[in-house]
Amino acid sequence: MFDDMVDIHSHALWGMDDGARYFEESMDLCFMAEESGTKTLFLTPHLIYWNQAETLYDVREEKVEELAGMLEVNGADIEVKKGFEILCDDDIFNVKYFKPYTLNESRYILIEFDFFKSNENDVTSWCNYLSSFGLVPIIAHPERYRFVLDDATCIERLSGNGVLFQINAGSPAGMFGRREAEISCGMLNSGYVDFIGSDAHDLFSRNTDIYACMEMYPEFIDEVLLKKAAVFNPKVILNDEPYSPERFDYISNI
Ligand SMILES: [Fe+2]
Repeated sequence: MFDDMVDIHSHALWGMDDGARYFEESMDLCFMAEESGTKTLFLTPHLIYWNQAETLYDVREEKVEELAGMLEVNGADIEVKKGFEILCDDDIFNVKYFKPYTLNESRYILIEFDFFKSNENDVTSWCNYLSSFGLVPIIAHPERYRFVLDDATCIERLSGNGVLFQINAGSPAGMFGRREAEISCGMLNSGYVDFIGSDAHDLFSRNTDIYACMEMYPEFIDEVLLKKAAVFNPKVILNDEPYSPERFDYISNI
């Protein structure tokens, strides 16, 4: 569908979390992404405990270098970039320095929360805290949290607070459930999807083949907005540029 996508969310770096387990799996996930039309793949291991952050950072540096080197040797037409997916809870208030853990060490920071226990108030406080450091929070897969599934209008309020959104490529295709599909499709068509990510964990169910997911999207999905999210918007992360989202509609009726 698109041949120059940027996938801002994957667990394709081996041995870091519950994603890829072996170096070969990482290589195959990169080749799969390339085949699917992804030109840039962010490797974003989970960062769950802050007391492990420095060690994770060092290990990630070494592994990304090794992976990038082998991709080059093999002539792969894909670039890998560094990031983390940061699990936010109240511990985040003890952290004062986030730059090494952002996407491509830019102002953009990819965050997630407990799927069931998180709520709009807590998420707003964590995002405000991150914004106070000049960072721009990107909420990973908003369509999957209980509090969003219960009341999707919170997406509008969070957006009004300067937060951006990355949906999972599989969500509009129904990979995570019917309500998740409704919300992600509604967000897409009303301009509330800033980025798309595979959130790939393995070569099977949740992989780096974004094209295969897009082939299953309903026909009413706005292709122009889809291309913005998959191809154009991520450039602001790569260039560490400011970005003002264009929201078109209310999503209260999702
Ligand atoms: Fe993830």
